[in-house]
Amino acid sequence: MPGYIIVGMQWGDEGKGKTVDFLTEKADIVVRYQGGNNAGHTVVVNGKETILHLIPCGILHERATCVIGHGTVIDPAVLLQELDDLEAAGCKADGRLHISEAAHVILPYHRIIDGAQERFRGKNRIDTTRRGIGPAYADKADRTGIRFGDLLDTERFKEKLRSALEYKNMLLTRIFDEEALDFDAMFDEYCGYADRLRGFAGDTVELLHKAQSDGKMIIFEGAQGAMLDLDHGTFPYVTSSTTVSGGVFAGAGIGPGQIDGVIGIVKAYSTRVGEGPLPTELNGAEGERLREAGKEYGATTGRPRRCGWLDIVPLRRAVKMCGLTHVVLTKSDVLGEFDTLRICTAYEIDGVRTEQFPNVLSRLEKAKPIYEELPGWKTEISSCRKWEEFPKEAQAYISRVEELIGAPISVISVGPGREQTIVRNDPFA
Ligand code: GDP
Ligand code: IMO
Ligand code: MG
Repeated sequence: MPGYIIVGMQWGDEGKGKTVDFLTEKADIVVRYQGGNNAGHTVVVNGKETILHLIPCGILHERATCVIGHGTVIDPAVLLQELDDLEAAGCKADGRLHISEAAHVILPYHRIIDGAQERFRGKNRIDTTRRGIGPAYADKADRTGIRFGDLLDTERFKEKLRSALEYKNMLLTRIFDEEALDFDAMFDEYCGYADRLRGFAGDTVELLHKAQSDGKMIIFEGAQGAMLDLDHGTFPYVTSSTTVSGGVFAGAGIGPGQIDGVIGIVKAYSTRVGEGPLPTELNGAEGERLREAGKEYGATTGRPRRCGWLDIVPLRRAVKMCGLTHVVLTKSDVLGEFDTLRICTAYEIDGVRTEQFPNVLSRLEKAKPIYEELPGWKTEISSCRKWEEFPKEAQAYISRVEELIGAPISVISVGPGREQTIVRNDPFA
């Protein structure tokens, strides 16, 4: 104890990276517990931007220990590149980064199958990040996946890879019309990664349990967002892991009693990258203005993010599903140039008003947003450092959002920098 979960409340890219970095000031350990390098978490310190995909954002704080837990999927080449980039920037991870032996490994065939499945889906494509995330999780569920601990045991890895590749090559050549992959080349490549990563491997569950007994402060860094959750998101336009706060327990190996709070990250408007419903999407000039003002381009793939007004309907549900104790509202500064702001408070589906977020895609696709309008503040707020410095229209917008979602907005982020953060109430209190 204590333990706090930080989790995205929308479709990802809410500003989790920035928040984790800011809150790590008070933490000893930061843990990634699900997802893989589909995530792109941006941190800006003293004007310098770092984008992390797998390594927890706490790494930029020298004293913090970082953990990549059981529930993640690891692309070793990406991880090594990230370590090299950090080292080149003067940030050393040796002795501070611990990787679970039970995490699953992304292999080249996962990436190829990810792309091939997308082609096969045609107009129904999900528009995944094509990082092999879904196929790697599918192999885990299918019990054919290769764990990080298996990769480190050369003989075992040889055996597991041989049998996996025999099957995957059949799939690649006979179903997807792809080239077969060469065992020797893949084996050698991955043994090279294993040699470089061996020193980071360990039993991260034991490490976390010990840290808890020692009274260390642990932050769990979620990836993606509640609406991309495999069970609770807009299926099938979701990722392949549990992104709601409940994912921590399976993904890190701790129990609910070890959690003192859940901090939800909410962007002041909606964005989504990839296919799938986004009821408040703005397709015209307003959407373009939001994208440009918010620099809404993917941190992992560079894809333009789809933009729209804040949608309370899924948020209200996400707040309950994740059991939020506090909210961090990000990017309200981006709204500064609009005369009028809109918040979607309900949907009209088949002529009927509802405040309930539909589970069924066919209903969600018909949802027409019902908006409430609020006046904009038409000024820069990125230099504000106190709630009292906000224009009254900005205070009114934030207070209204707080009222509608039913959870306290305790921290407000007004820019990408670590210092552009206003704490109204301590989220760790
Ligand atoms: P994450 O995946 O949730 O960590 O979010 P991303 O890093 O993918 O995307 C968030 C983007 O918004 C990054 O470029 C951040 O630097 C930036 N950002 C975070 N908070 C704020 C904020 O309050 N205002 C502005 N203008 N940008 C922010
Ligand atoms: P962070 O942690 C935004 C989206 C993809 C696609 C869907 C499935 O930076 O918020 P996948 O490759 O996971 O099978 O893709 O999920 N997606 C994200 N969108 N932010 C992310 O992560 C995402 N990770 C996956 O665009 O629609
Ligand atoms: Mg991101």
